[in-house]
Amino acid sequence: MTNSIARDIRALLEERNAILLAHNYQPPEIQDIADLTGDSLDLSIKAAKTDADVILFCGVHFMAETASIISPDKTVLIPRLDTGCAMADMITSEALKARLAELGDMPVVTYVNSTASVKAQSTICCTSANAVAVVNSLAEDEVLMVPDRNLCQYVASKTTKKIHCWDGYCPIHNRLRVEEVLRAKAAHPEALFMAHPECPPEVLVLGDAVLSTSGMLDFAKRSENDSFIVGTEKGHLYPLQKANPDKSFYIASESMVCEDMKRTTLDDVLRAITTMTYEVKVSESVRIQASQAVERMIEITGR
Ligand code: 13P
Ligand code: SF4
Repeated sequence: MTNSIARDIRALLEERNAILLAHNYQPPEIQDIADLTGDSLDLSIKAAKTDADVILFCGVHFMAETASIISPDKTVLIPRLDTGCAMADMITSEALKARLAELGDMPVVTYVNSTASVKAQSTICCTSANAVAVVNSLAEDEVLMVPDRNLCQYVASKTTKKIHCWDGYCPIHNRLRVEEVLRAKAAHPEALFMAHPECPPEVLVLGDAVLSTSGMLDFAKRSENDSFIVGTEKGHLYPLQKANPDKSFYIASESMVCEDMKRTTLDDVLRAITTMTYEVKVSESVRIQASQAVERMIEITGR
C-alpha cells in the first residue's frame, strides 16, 4: 500500500516537473521518497538551483515561505496547512517593531525559523549553524536577535557584542533537562553528546558539540567515535542512522517530538501533488524585504 502511494507520488512529481523536499525531522517514509532531505535553508537553496516548476515542501509552514522567498517563480506547495512552528509564532512583525522602538535603532538578526513578515523586518537572517559568524560580521556592537532566546544566549557566549534576546523558544528543544542528558550519558558513557543550540544553556554546556541538524550529520560522519546522544527532535535519528549504518544514535529524551513535524502523511503528500494545494505564496513587498535579509546572510556565510 505504502509502496503504491509512493509510486503514485513519484509519477505525479515527474508529470508536474516537481521536486519533493523533506526536512530532517519528517517521518521516514516521507524522507525515503524525497528528492532532497536536509535542514530548511539548505533545502530551499538547493531547490532554487533546480529547474523544477513546483516545490512540494514537507516540513512546517515557515520553511515553505522561505522556499517561496528564494524561488518566486516556482509554485511552492505544502501538504497540510496545520503544520506550524510554535517558536516562529512567538513573534510578530508588529511586536518586533515595538521592541525596536523601545531599544533604539540596531540591527535585527533573525533565525530562519521565523515567518516571512518577521524576516522582512530584519537586517539579516541566520541559521543555527552560522549565527555566530553572522553576528560577528555586523559593524554594530549591539544587536537584537529573534526569536530564539536559547540560540541567542549561545551566540552571546561566543561573541563580545552586546546582544538583546527575544524571549521565544522551541518548546521541543527547550524541554530537554540536564537530568535527562546525565541519565543518557550514564547509560551510554562512550557516546558523544550532540546538542542543538535551541536547547537551554544549562544543557548546551554538557554538549561535546553544539550543532545544527546538518552539522550533526557532518559531525557524526567525520567522528572516529561510533555512538552519539542526540539532543534534537527525535526524527533526526532516522537520517543520522541512514547515513551512518554502523554507528549508534540515542535520543537524549523521548519527549523531543515535534507534533507539527509529524503531521504530514504520504496520503497528504499524494493529495497535495494531485490537487496542487496548498500553495504558499509570500506577497511581493514582503518577499523583496525578506529576501534581502536572507541574501545578506548568504553573502556572508556562502550558504
Ligand atoms: P535546523 O534543521 O536548521 O538545525 O533547524 C532545527 C529546527 O528546529 C527546524 O524546525
Ligand atoms: Fe518549530 Fe521546534 Fe518544531 Fe522546529 S522542532 S518546527 S523549531 S516547534
